[in-house]
Amino acid sequence: MKKSIPFSAPDITQAEIEAVNEVIQSGWLAHGKFSKRLEELFCEFTGAKYATTVSNCTAGLHLSCLAAGFGPGDEVIVPAQTHTATAHAVEYTGAKAVFADVCTLTGNILIEEIEKKLTSATKGIIPVHMAGYPVDMDGILRICEKNNLTLIEDCAHALGTQYKSRHAGNFGISGSFSFYPTKQITTGEGGVVISNNELVIDFINKHKAFGINTTPEMRKRPGVYDVHGLGYNFRMTDFQAALGVGQLDRYNNNLANRQANGKLYCELLSNNKYVEFPRYTDDNSYFLFQILIKPPIVRDSILDKLIESGIGVSIHYATPVPLMSYYRKKYGYVQSDFPNAVSYGNQVISLPVHSNISDNDIRYVVQTLKAFLDEE
Ligand SMILES: Cc1ncc(COP(=O)(O)O)c(C=O)c1O
Repeated sequence: MKKSIPFSAPDITQAEIEAVNEVIQSGWLAHGKFSKRLEELFCEFTGAKYATTVSNCTAGLHLSCLAAGFGPGDEVIVPAQTHTATAHAVEYTGAKAVFADVCTLTGNILIEEIEKKLTSATKGIIPVHMAGYPVDMDGILRICEKNNLTLIEDCAHALGTQYKSRHAGNFGISGSFSFYPTKQITTGEGGVVISNNELVIDFINKHKAFGINTTPEMRKRPGVYDVHGLGYNFRMTDFQAALGVGQLDRYNNNLANRQANGKLYCELLSNNKYVEFPRYTDDNSYFLFQILIKPPIVRDSILDKLIESGIGVSIHYATPVPLMSYYRKKYGYVQSDFPNAVSYGNQVISLPVHSNISDNDIRYVVQTLKAFLDEE
């Protein structure tokens, strides 16, 4: 019988819904205690000194780029395989996003490709821990130190990702996390920026709230404040934060399930001659479980059959960002500039790995996939 297996499904408990309702009924919808609590929990979970809630991960990356002082005339290196948000965050500041090619197996930015893109205008690097697989941070830190570059981590996939026993997001001036509904935890839209640098978190705190110098609770008289910079309104509401608190409280269990699911996929697909994927590691958050379909089998043919059979799958990311119309027209890139990112985009499939998929459903996904591969 045909099964329906969703690619992802937000996992929200009744207690979390009640917590959101309580905040809404309290009348205190922004600047509340749940934002603070979520920030504390994030520090505990990631080991960072500071954390601040934001309206989404893109806003967190944008504010981090501003805190780094990126601006017109500067170049910042980002991976060619990522969500467009990584590059947009750089370009919002007037700096140029310079794309580096990625590993054909993990989709992560390659150190040797970064080196090829360094110029006297390079000011920073924003690596992405693709699908939760940790980037080679020793390599990144070496380049940053040698060339005096600022490091910002795009941690949209990296809640639970570790590199040498240190949580992702702790290696540079900041790490920005996403709580979009498909992510490991959700607040609808939302995110958190972590940092170990007081000046950076202070800058982000002020600039996520218009550049105002004081929070409401710091003011002697309500309504009396000064504005110190051209800030934005990039805050998270307190009812979103209440949802985030419940989600993060349960995340250890969710992460363990994702990792167990990743491990099972690795076991069931090992030695299959038609697919490739990075070997299992406990350092991976398994935001996604990605496989690469080896040519001459055509990825889209397998993808379409999986969808047709009721299995939720996706592609992260079909078109490398420099080849999206906006960046292609702006900088004149062609496919051959990013051969690895192009082949990754053509071969990759993301399989359902979320915390609520059962072992039986994973076995069913793999069995169905193998049957389609054998047919080709
Ligand atoms: C790698 C990466 N960076 C940034 C973002 C942007 O996150 P948000 O939607 O929270 O702004 C995403 C979103 O999926 C992403 O995948």
